[in-house]
Amino acid sequence: MSEPQPIYLSDYRPPAYRVTHTELTFDLDPAATRVKARLHVERHPDREPGAPLELDGEQLALKAIAIDGQALGEDEYALTERGLRVDGVPERFLLDTEVEIAPEDNTALEGLYRSGGMFCTQCEAEGFRRITFYPDRPDVMATFSTTVIGDAAGLPVLLSNGNPVERGELPGGRHFVTWEDPHPKPSYLFALVAGDLKKVEDRFTTMSGREVTLQIWVEEENLGKTDHAMASLKRAMRWDEETYGREYDLDRYMIVAVNDFNMGAMENKGLNLFNSAAVLTHPQTATDAAFQRVEGIVAHEYFHNWSGNRVTCRDWFQLSLKEGFTVFRDQCFSADTNSAPVKRIEEVSFFRTAQFAEDAGPTAHPVRPDHYIEIGNFYTLTIYEKGAEIVRMLCNLVGWEAFRRGADRYFSRFDGQAVTIEDFVNCMAEASGHDLSQFLLWYSQAGTPEIDAHGEYDYANGVYRLVLRQRTPATPGQPDKLPLHIPLRLGLVGTKTGRDLPMTLDGEDLGTDGVIHLREEEQEFVFTDVAEAPVPSLARNFSAPVKLHFPYSREDLAFLLAHDSDGFNRWDAGQRLALLALDDLIAAHRNGVEKVMDPRVVEAFRHLLTTEADDKAVLAEMLTLPSEAYIAEQQPLVDVDAIHAAREFVKQSLATALRDDFRRLYEEHRSEAPYAPEPEQIAARSLKNVALSYLVSIEDEEGIELAQRQFEADHNMTDVRQALTLLVHSSRGDLADPALRAFGEKWAHDPLVMDQWFSIQVTRPQSDALDRVKFLMDHPAFSLTNPNKVRALIGAFAQNRVNFHRLDGEGYRLLADVVIELNRLNPEIAARLVTPLTRWQRFDETRQELMKAELERIRGEELSPNLYEVIEKALA
Ligand code: TRP
Ligand code: ZN
Repeated sequence: MSEPQPIYLSDYRPPAYRVTHTELTFDLDPAATRVKARLHVERHPDREPGAPLELDGEQLALKAIAIDGQALGEDEYALTERGLRVDGVPERFLLDTEVEIAPEDNTALEGLYRSGGMFCTQCEAEGFRRITFYPDRPDVMATFSTTVIGDAAGLPVLLSNGNPVERGELPGGRHFVTWEDPHPKPSYLFALVAGDLKKVEDRFTTMSGREVTLQIWVEEENLGKTDHAMASLKRAMRWDEETYGREYDLDRYMIVAVNDFNMGAMENKGLNLFNSAAVLTHPQTATDAAFQRVEGIVAHEYFHNWSGNRVTCRDWFQLSLKEGFTVFRDQCFSADTNSAPVKRIEEVSFFRTAQFAEDAGPTAHPVRPDHYIEIGNFYTLTIYEKGAEIVRMLCNLVGWEAFRRGADRYFSRFDGQAVTIEDFVNCMAEASGHDLSQFLLWYSQAGTPEIDAHGEYDYANGVYRLVLRQRTPATPGQPDKLPLHIPLRLGLVGTKTGRDLPMTLDGEDLGTDGVIHLREEEQEFVFTDVAEAPVPSLARNFSAPVKLHFPYSREDLAFLLAHDSDGFNRWDAGQRLALLALDDLIAAHRNGVEKVMDPRVVEAFRHLLTTEADDKAVLAEMLTLPSEAYIAEQQPLVDVDAIHAAREFVKQSLATALRDDFRRLYEEHRSEAPYAPEPEQIAARSLKNVALSYLVSIEDEEGIELAQRQFEADHNMTDVRQALTLLVHSSRGDLADPALRAFGEKWAHDPLVMDQWFSIQVTRPQSDALDRVKFLMDHPAFSLTNPNKVRALIGAFAQNRVNFHRLDGEGYRLLADVVIELNRLNPEIAARLVTPLTRWQRFDETRQELMKAELERIRGEELSPNLYEVIEKALA
């Protein structure tokens, strides 16, 4: 096999031929499905006549091919590994092909595959070419008419995009349904489902009075787990009408839950496919976090109907056009339905841990990459989350009203088209009158910008000078960076009053909470008429995806933690304060010096615990220490053991000093009320469970008893899972196994709960975690071909900082072994799973060598393009 070659954005050309209408017939069979395709083809008006017809196609056995009804002889077309070529085609013609495929052998879960007894598809990004020969690129948009034929008894339900127009019986116990999708769409939005499924149905009336049927299709045993997804869908539909003026455009909207799925969910037109983990919930089986995740993903896929489907991407380099925008939309939706600051805190803690790490590692890439080998590797945190941060900055820059006008312009001007990121940004520039040319650099420059800030208060003149200096570090292929346009929201908090001071900048009134624009490498901002010495509260609500350094003293941070009017920055001040203390303790641990707890952190926590909180959900976040992964992200070189020891020390010191406050907090927030995934209840559970985690960390007898009782009370999965996790992760050796056994037996029949059972045990800090992984890989509920299982067991173990990074290299070896097996079974998952090994530069020399040795061992295999691309970058 030759080395996979990169594809370049600069090589983009419109397709030589487009397809205006696509007719498909599937005759389903696990081992030999027949797919007939009739494509209505015409030359693209912008392309020269006489070009050959080139269609994508992989792993297809061609059975027949004809143009305008004339069968082609074997010398009239050419077949390659990657597709089909026909020379000398007319300007307009009908192409008929018939191919055979084997869904039951498809473990990659791209194209048509089997999940349990059902058939289903995943076509984004390039899966359709594993179904039939086609110009499998998003700028070819066609209407589809799809006939699905299957065994009537085994596959009573046959679904595809759009509306069912015909159904009937066929000889041999088979039946068929024909579906028509009137909206032109790219092949990546095609979907088909066939199986023994049951539905839950509801209705929604759109703002213009259209009646829409909503259906969630599941296996029978999951019928009781769809309520929350359905309610979320209706809320999302209403929200998009109210917020963006966009309504749904078909008579039915279907969601299907699938157990084997590479990602979270897929926005296929009118027929979303969902990883069952992203749609099914029940108070007894799903945690608050899972409920919120389901709500967010249901909304995300629904919002794609406009941002992605009606207006789609010209090519896959523009992926963030639909993903960044849609993530921004689902984030705003969730913020409107839940505690907005907590939503932001959760987003940002995840972003600063995982996206910052990606942006600093060997696979760093711009939000719009300029080349790729395998597009499946680019469904990344950078494309999704940093893309969303850029859209958020745009929104803050031009203001919501102009942003909404820009979105209206974008949707109406480009409806039914495949467009670029410039098209989107230009709409925002036109609607607002802003010059966004420098801002566009955010899309082409990789790496996390760092801002060094310092400020000085001039008492005599009442002037505050803030100096900001930006730089973006080099990333692979991009040694030099230009200054970006960075909008920073800020306030100046008066040290006497604790209030936001009015801000005047260059004679302009900024109010008490305003945005400044950093455009130069270094810029000074001079605020006048500042009545008292302020502490600046910078990048409020994480107004830009940057690392902001300001020489805050611990007193400054304690002050902001108590007084900042921005909930997000109040939380962030607490995190910064904890990080300073952690830094000292990490150093102490490394130097073998006795660890001493900073009393200022204890006092700050005491203050939090003893003053009335205006937002309990935020308080729970404030009481949560930065994760080991986030602490690691702040260190020049990661010392996993020192980080773990330091964090445990802080936790235990706080628990010891504030034991009574935590006990009180726990008691005040326990409740027997029936479970509801509502903000107030969620906040109370978070507070109670944070308190419990402190109490158990010091093996407080009462705390352990509370955890055991909470586990046994079995009130809801949020409480049960937290209690189980604390018992299993506790250093008291006798607690883990009885609880795990009880839980494992109770839930053996429920794959999504068993995923949690796997994760909890392999993330424990005790040294038996690795042995548990090996043991559990033979558990009947585990399967290497199910991505959820792989993530729950192997992926979770790779997040177990102390055990994955064992000094004997056994953690790395285990991951590499699994990656090598998955390289054959499911390349997309293999390439994701290997990520932790690619971050070897962050660790000490011994671990670096061990990690690189495993990467080299993987490189010795015959690699899928997915893994090839990642491994080459990691070892470059
Ligand atoms: N477009 C999907 C989303 O974000 C992503 C997705 C689902 C996907 N399944 C996939 C991407 C498989 C690549 C491969 O909503
Ligand atoms: Zn998406």
